[in-house]
Amino acid sequence: MKTNNRKTSYVVMSADLVHPGHLNVIERARQLGDVIIGLLTDKAIVGYKRLPYLTYEQRKTVVENIKGVTEVIPQHELDFVPNLRKLRPDYVVHGDDWKTGVKKKVRERVIETIKEWGGELVEVPYTHSISSRQINKVHREIGTTPEVRMRKFRRLLGAKPLLKFMEAHNGISGLIVENTSVVKNDVVCEFDGIWLSSLTESASKGRPDNEAVDISARMVTLNDVVEVTTKPILFDADTGGKPEHFVYTVKTLERLGVCGVIIEDKAGLKRNSLYGTTVPQTQDEPQNFGEKISRGKQAQITDDFMIIARIESLILGKGVDDAIDRAKIYIDAGADGILIHSKNKTPEELLQFCQRYKNFNHSVPLVAVPTTYNMILENELQDAGVNIVIYANQMLRSAYPAMVKTAKCILEHERSYETNGSIMKIDEILNLIPG
Ligand code: SPV
Ligand code: MG
Repeated sequence: MKTNNRKTSYVVMSADLVHPGHLNVIERARQLGDVIIGLLTDKAIVGYKRLPYLTYEQRKTVVENIKGVTEVIPQHELDFVPNLRKLRPDYVVHGDDWKTGVKKKVRERVIETIKEWGGELVEVPYTHSISSRQINKVHREIGTTPEVRMRKFRRLLGAKPLLKFMEAHNGISGLIVENTSVVKNDVVCEFDGIWLSSLTESASKGRPDNEAVDISARMVTLNDVVEVTTKPILFDADTGGKPEHFVYTVKTLERLGVCGVIIEDKAGLKRNSLYGTTVPQTQDEPQNFGEKISRGKQAQITDDFMIIARIESLILGKGVDDAIDRAKIYIDAGADGILIHSKNKTPEELLQFCQRYKNFNHSVPLVAVPTTYNMILENELQDAGVNIVIYANQMLRSAYPAMVKTAKCILEHERSYETNGSIMKIDEILNLIPG
């Protein structure tokens, strides 16, 4: 990489929102030599924090134009070592904020590695004026556009081995999916997207999950969720209805920035899959369903919107062979993803499907909904080849018992005092949604 005798400095950043802290680091690096920026790719960033607002290409354009930057190269993982070995820079320049936290080990490896050629680590006092928490807040305030939300889904699919979607059925549950995070081993863990479940939305309206809540009513809820969130949304459109109607659903969802629709291969009156064969349920003819997928694909305007075909063979006791045959037909018809559903208590049959799916010449992202076989861990699903896991109903299933408990408690005690310990405080609910 070195073309002359000038010294080189290597600086790594994600540069989603460039601030004076970055410029200090770059300026220090420039004093030492030619500045090569290792720009973290989406994949490297989602390994430890939220997907950046700007794409890699957008961030690259910004950084290339900063005074003193000689070259921008991708860094595909948080670990600097592969790039360091290629570049053998004289200096690595970094803010001094990485001595603790997720980058502590990365730093130690940098120091070890550059010793090999006499490189030196130079640390610049970190500018504490802007934290990534503030940046996230700003991003949320900026909100999103339908295009940005839709594209984020494909970016995430490219950057992460397994995406986690969580069910929402109204604005407030949408907000919880949007904002909830935990820190595990210094890594921030969040849900990647929102599942608009027909089961929980119907139930929250006091209706059965049999397409009794029509698409217009579903759009009202969808709008409520869209209003308060920025994460990708997958919409459960049940059977998709008649192909002549499905094309309109596709256009409407796409216009709102929903990133994909999932339709299940059932015909006639749809009942919830978790009933299995205890109620009459008919699977559509694969060719018919393939035709519906094709019609939907022709109706969409953008290249980003995804139509995911959900296979009900395991639910209806038709076995893995039938599911595999259908997956091929649906992919040939244009499906952008396959959801293989199961209501077994254990994942064996689902994993058999996944094993055979791995051998497909042309495969599309695979989705699983581990509601009944929920002992399985995310990394086991990932190893089986699953790309998206949907937690389809747990938000509503946790809210309902809590509400019943409170209702009973008030009836029991003829006042609400006894609920004080188990419900939100008044100021908490007042400040939950500021404004
Ligand atoms: C939903 O969440 O509405 C689903 C998944 O379709 S399931 O309830 O398992 O059928
Ligand atoms: Mg459903």
